[in-house]
Parts: sequence; structure tokens; C-alpha cells
Amino acid sequence: MRKLVSDINCCDLYELSKIHNPAGNITVVQPTVHLPFRLRRVYYLYDVPGGSERGGHAHKNLYQLIVAASGSFDVLLDDGRNKKVVYLNRPYYGLMIVPGIWREIVNFSSGAICLVLASDKYNVADYLRDYNEFKQYKNDTSVI
Ligand code: TYD
Repeated sequence: MRKLVSDINCCDLYELSKIHNPAGNITVVQPTVHLPFRLRRVYYLYDVPGGSERGGHAHKNLYQLIVAASGSFDVLLDDGRNKKVVYLNRPYYGLMIVPGIWREIVNFSSGAICLVLASDKYNVADYLRDYNEFKQYKNDTSVI
């Protein structure tokens, strides 16, 4: 029996494409070319009041690429053993969050937009919303 391990070191920061233009830059994220997962959903957080915290959950199977499309915020990542904080403040960087990682998104700047590219459609059953349940899930998860 082998442990199915996902840890915070699997959550890398990717530099995305950037097409420079004095009149305004473009970043392109094209599935199969720039994403290491199949893109099934895009959503974004905006109008986040100062002091708000988002996230506070983990996913069992979902991969996500998180981009600060505007403004900035901190993403707190926790694999049940180790934690790290990634500050996002450029629209041409994307933070990959693999399954089995607890995340919280905090310190939103005014006008921040958190763009999320996700590997699957919304599925309430994919969420772990209780931290103790998450820790138990990490201990229990295994594959033959
Ligand atoms: P949630 O994922 O908890 O948001 P966050 O992690 O940003 O705090 O979702 C908040 C609410 O929005 C929840 O009631 C479910 C709903 N929702 C959808 O219906 N579809 C979606 O694709 C997402 C991301 C959320």
C-alpha cells in the first residue's frame, strides 16, 4: 500500500505568457498548451470587502490555477504537515493548487480579482470544509 501524497511543494508558481504592448499587455492561458490539467471551469472572486477571508477548505480531486487578475492577496497553503504563504500580485503568475491542500485566501487588496481556472465543474462532494475532517482525510487517503 502506497500513500497518496500531495504536499505544498506540489503547489508551484507558474509564470504565464505575457504579450507586451504599450497599450496594454495580454496573458493567454490555453488549455493543453499552458495548463497541466483539463480546464472545465473558470470563476472569479471580486468585490471582496477588506478583511474578508475566502477558501477555508480543501478539494479531494480538483486542480486549480489561481491568478491575481487584478490587485493582490495571500494564499495560505497547508498540506496537513507543512504550510506556506504565496503572495500573488501579478496577472502573469498562476499558483497551482493540487488536490488535498487546505487553502485560505486573505489580505485582499482593494479591487482585487481572484481568477480561478479549475479542472472540473462545481461539485459539493469534492469539498473538505472541516479542518479536522481534512486532516483525517490526509491520514486515510491511500492507493494500492
Ligand atoms: P466557495 O468555493 O466556498 O468559495 P470560496 O472558496 O471562494 O470562499 O463557494 C462559495 C459559494 O459559491 C458556495 O455556496 C458554492 C458557490 N459556488 C458555486 O455554486 N459554483 C462554483 O463554481 C463555486 C466556486 C462556488
